[in-house]
Amino acid sequence: MTHTTIDLDDPTTPDVPPVPHRVHLQGGPPPGPASLEAIDACAWFGDHLVLEGVDLHMPAGEVTSLIGPSGCGKSTFLRLLNRMHELVPSASLAGEIRLDGEDIYAPGTRAQQIRMRIGMVFQKPNPFPAMNIRDNVLSGLKLARLGCHDKDGLVEQSLERAGLWREVRDRLHQPGGALSGGQQQRLCIARALAVQPNVLLMDEPCSALDPTSTRRIEETIAELRHEVTVVIVTHNMQQALRVSDHCAFFLAEENEPGYVVEHGRTSKLFSSPDDPRTHAYVEGRFG
Ligand SMILES: Nc1ncnc2c1ncn2[C@@H]1O[C@H](COP(=O)(O)OP(=O)(O)OP(=O)(O)O)[C@@H](O)[C@H]1O
Ligand SMILES: [Mg+2]
Repeated sequence: MTHTTIDLDDPTTPDVPPVPHRVHLQGGPPPGPASLEAIDACAWFGDHLVLEGVDLHMPAGEVTSLIGPSGCGKSTFLRLLNRMHELVPSASLAGEIRLDGEDIYAPGTRAQQIRMRIGMVFQKPNPFPAMNIRDNVLSGLKLARLGCHDKDGLVEQSLERAGLWREVRDRLHQPGGALSGGQQQRLCIARALAVQPNVLLMDEPCSALDPTSTRRIEETIAELRHEVTVVIVTHNMQQALRVSDHCAFFLAEENEPGYVVEHGRTSKLFSSPDDPRTHAYVEGRFG
């Protein structure tokens, strides 16, 4: 009799199989990961240029991490990717952001539609605290004008994919605010996943969480990869190394706009970066 052992460090070990979408939504785009590409992306607040000339390809079905010191424009870049930047009064931008090759800022493209396809999870979990867990998960459907004939199935599927189902299946009618911080963050991930986005943006999703919840979120990211493209901002170098396939290092000199110093495969960026500043940063020598 032969035994099969799975070596997590062995690149030939098959990946975790994706959880298939069982529940169909009416009115949404086809589920599945999409690529994102920034071409010469620039961002301003008023006349203050904060991000300049960012070219970055974020491949479909893979995890890209964005790292760099505070204030270098990581969150701003993330908000460019799903048209949230334009919600800030006085904010403007230049360049292109392409979702599966299509410019998300092309005339006639609706921001609401883009935000449905490119979901976002923030640093601080922000479920609707008084709304129950089930309704929290379903809250994006109406906003995105999506129909669903199997809401119970969608709630289960989304919570399962966010790694929260087992913990809450017996208390779906309790308020979202009654969950722990880590559970609330996974509830927010479930809410973002319920509209079946093609990309999930995460801005320091674990910075307010304890190590156990952090590990759980990282497992969730690993389980979601291949099914939704993930772009994650993190200040935790070990996390970037653990969860991402690709990594981009952002930097801003004093009073200068942020830019990408270097990007590439995470393993390469951390082990043999081309730029000495990347090396110094990933070694924890500044920032
Ligand atoms: N709403 C805003 N109005 C004006 N300036 C802003 C606004 N939001 C961010 N900025 C400026 O844009 C620059 C980039 O900020 P951003 O929040 O993108 O940095 P970050 O890399 O995400 O930093 P952190 O790691 O601290 O979250 C900073 O100089 C910041 O002061
Ligand atoms: Mg930020």
